[in-house]
Amino acid sequence: MFKETTQATPPILAPGMLANAEAYGETLGQAHARQETASVLFVDQSGQLGGAEFSLMPLAATWGARREVLLLSDGPFRTRLEALGVPVSLACEASVSDIRKDTLRLSWLGALPGILRQVRAIARHAEGYDILFLNTQKALVLGALGKPLHRKRIIWHLHDIMSSEHFGPLQRLIVRWLTRYAVDHVIANSRASADSLIALAHCAPDDVPVVHNGVDLEEFRCKDAPDMAALRQQFGLPENVYLAGLFGRLAPWKGQHIALEALARIPDLHLVLVGSALFGEQEYVKSLHSQAARLGVQDRLTFAGFRDDMPAWMKAVDVILHTSTEPEPFGRVIIEGMAAGRPVIAAAAGGVTEIVRHRTNGWLVPPRDVTALADAIAILRAAPELADRLANQALDDVAQRFSVEAYLVQMKKMIANVCE
Ligand code: UDP
Ligand code: GLC
Repeated sequence: MFKETTQATPPILAPGMLANAEAYGETLGQAHARQETASVLFVDQSGQLGGAEFSLMPLAATWGARREVLLLSDGPFRTRLEALGVPVSLACEASVSDIRKDTLRLSWLGALPGILRQVRAIARHAEGYDILFLNTQKALVLGALGKPLHRKRIIWHLHDIMSSEHFGPLQRLIVRWLTRYAVDHVIANSRASADSLIALAHCAPDDVPVVHNGVDLEEFRCKDAPDMAALRQQFGLPENVYLAGLFGRLAPWKGQHIALEALARIPDLHLVLVGSALFGEQEYVKSLHSQAARLGVQDRLTFAGFRDDMPAWMKAVDVILHTSTEPEPFGRVIIEGMAAGRPVIAAAAGGVTEIVRHRTNGWLVPPRDVTALADAIAILRAAPELADRLANQALDDVAQRFSVEAYLVQMKKMIANVCE
């Protein structure tokens, strides 16, 4: 439970503080042994593979005490968790899954019976556990509403910027109320996400610590990966061209349409979009296809769909684009691109500015600014030594600040503190 405050919001953990385990005076092994005694029920609303799910995966897989993941929808996330040896249960309610964050109005009343069933199902599952770890917005609402039933300590992993650009007034009101009265601890994925919640719920800045996501550097190093030409051949991508890649789900706020506009401005550029519409954004996918036809860029554009082997796909391109039109809460794809050793051009808003330092480890452009994006691509293309310098610095930075080991040490320490 949080104390309300009107205090200003100084940074709690500056970017970089989450650097590595040694910074905290302990090795990974020691940290693991000391911390993981509490049993945890992790709850996630999605069966799909998004950034929040990728960040939960290593945590659930390596949590040393009893743990289980409860999913509120089925999908490939379940299979991935099971392959890692994580016990998974399902509590699905179609009427609740259909509620979308941007359309949350009184329509949720029709889903009320399903909501109540899911609140009870989560509470029932939580019975045998010390901690309820809620990983997504719906998991937060349904898990926290059931607090009178389960009475467990609640940790909410905040992966969103709680602004009016991302969420409607009702959702923001519910989150504000639950943050104050039902959630015990919040861990935010970025300073930007933390500040948005502090502004919404007027909680004390110290109550919302930040842990940045981390990536498995070994996985992205792909020592045995074939060279770029062979990768392009293997993936059916055009060879001997300058190829930009945009990685992530197809959704309006991820801004693939901005990249298409930039593509139209650079005559011999090629672009690959890796990712699919995970949450029913089929209209947007259609609009991208018709935009490509209108701009006459179809023959320089590849829709690759959702791919499991992101490191190899990232290594197959010359430059990685991030084009979100709204502030990105964190942006896993950016640290992945950095870990893959490719120069990244990113939209400077939200958590992105905690990762990318302009002209030092990447290139920042204003969100939605097609001209700036096209110029940045042209600059990096014309100056391969500059692009290499940025990519090399990015690789160093990601190893220093965004490793999965550092992420796990921090997360586990915070979860363990809840029980002390
Ligand atoms: N991703 C993937 N295959 C794809 C597209 C995306 O595995 O075809 C992964 C990507 O590697 C990243 C995650 O999906 O780990 C997207 O996370 P991010 O935080 O960037 O965005 P989100 O969609 O969660 O807002
Ligand atoms: C959410 C955010 C994304 C972030 C991910 C992992 O899906 O949209 O920006 O990288 O969570 O924290």
